[in-house]
Amino acid sequence: MSQLSPLLKQATPVVADHGEGVYLYDAEGNRHLDFTAGIGVTSTGHCHPRVVRAAQEQVGKLIHGQYTTVMHEPLLKLAKRMGDVLPAGLDSVFFANSGSEAVESALRLVRQATGRPNVVVFHGGFHGRTVATASMTTSGTRFSAGISPLMSGVHVAPFPFAYRYGWDEATATKFALRELDYLFATMSAPDDTAAFVVEPVLGEGGYVPANSEFLAGLRQRADDHGILLVFDEVQTGYGRTGKFWGHQHFGVSPDVVITAKGLASGFPLSAIAASAELMAKAWPGSQGGTYGGNAVACAAALATLDVIQEENLVENAATQGRRLLDGARAIAGKYSAIGDVRGLGLMVGSEFVHPVSGEPDNPTAQAAQQAAAKRGLLLLTCGAWMNVVRMIPALVVNSEQIDNALDIWADVLAEVTPAS
Ligand SMILES: Cc1ncc(COP(=O)(O)O)c(C=O)c1O
Repeated sequence: MSQLSPLLKQATPVVADHGEGVYLYDAEGNRHLDFTAGIGVTSTGHCHPRVVRAAQEQVGKLIHGQYTTVMHEPLLKLAKRMGDVLPAGLDSVFFANSGSEAVESALRLVRQATGRPNVVVFHGGFHGRTVATASMTTSGTRFSAGISPLMSGVHVAPFPFAYRYGWDEATATKFALRELDYLFATMSAPDDTAAFVVEPVLGEGGYVPANSEFLAGLRQRADDHGILLVFDEVQTGYGRTGKFWGHQHFGVSPDVVITAKGLASGFPLSAIAASAELMAKAWPGSQGGTYGGNAVACAAALATLDVIQEENLVENAATQGRRLLDGARAIAGKYSAIGDVRGLGLMVGSEFVHPVSGEPDNPTAQAAQQAAAKRGLLLLTCGAWMNVVRMIPALVVNSEQIDNALDIWADVLAEVTPAS
């Protein structure tokens, strides 16, 4: 008899039997309000009937049409169809399986296309668990500890995390851009720098939105020095933030966009998009893989796009996200244990701090997440100290479900922390 590796930890004790919309059910029939959505993956909710039908039909026709051997219809259709939603000018798409794999594909592209070795990432960013992407990850040492030597050629500049610095947004942004210029002068000359890789909202790093001035500052420096601007939209893409892409809140366009999570409602599929001109600068044969662009995943992705567009899920994410953020802020106002509530669309994080010192408070955040799970509300934590409780429901969530989650959250806080 064998067993699961003990290194794989679960945030909740739930053994899921089936899922429907924003609910997961265990084998005993208990219903759990799922505000984790498989870490922001099940964009159309668990087992949306149209996604299920599309996948079932595809399974009976062709499961695996390996894309460097043969081509298949779902992949060709999806490559075309993504043109409806991709940022202007990014008309060439490559498909892989996971977010990390897509980030690595973007890394290969920017290095080959520019002939430059270095990438600049931003403090608090999460880009994956493979060695290259862990080397680019600074949201917590838990992702890179003990696996050195890491990949070289990665430099880290500050992200305008105003709450952390204790400054206003403008001061934090000025600081971040000034330090980026200092980095150019001291660590990675612009001519050695292939790309900036940045999340429009730090995800694992604590649900911290970027801002227009900061991203415009990156765009400007990228244009001045022939550096490519890569947005890692693995978590923020596909409607999650209340616009199709997170960066659309900030009016700044990327050279490369990376997407995964919400793309296929739970089937493993990821992609990068760039202009055909930029893609052509990388080396032939540098993109491939055994499982990338799986036929069933592509069929599910096509149905996912239909559902997102026809059910107006991006608009719903904006409306329900506002309701969630306002509600979480109103609750936090009663507790000095929560120092900040922030986010964009259906990405909402509550940061737990010690009421007196303001230092990160991991134990209370963990207690809140566990207490919520006991009351039937599934949540996750994030942030460098895992002291931010995040809510990421599926884009199909409705007002009643948001209010239900907020009611449970209010009870949880009353249980785990004294009111101020
Ligand atoms: C912004 C971002 N990039 C990359 C990844 C890595 O994706 P995966 O876990 O599918 O490899 C994640 C996963 O959470 C992410 O949030």
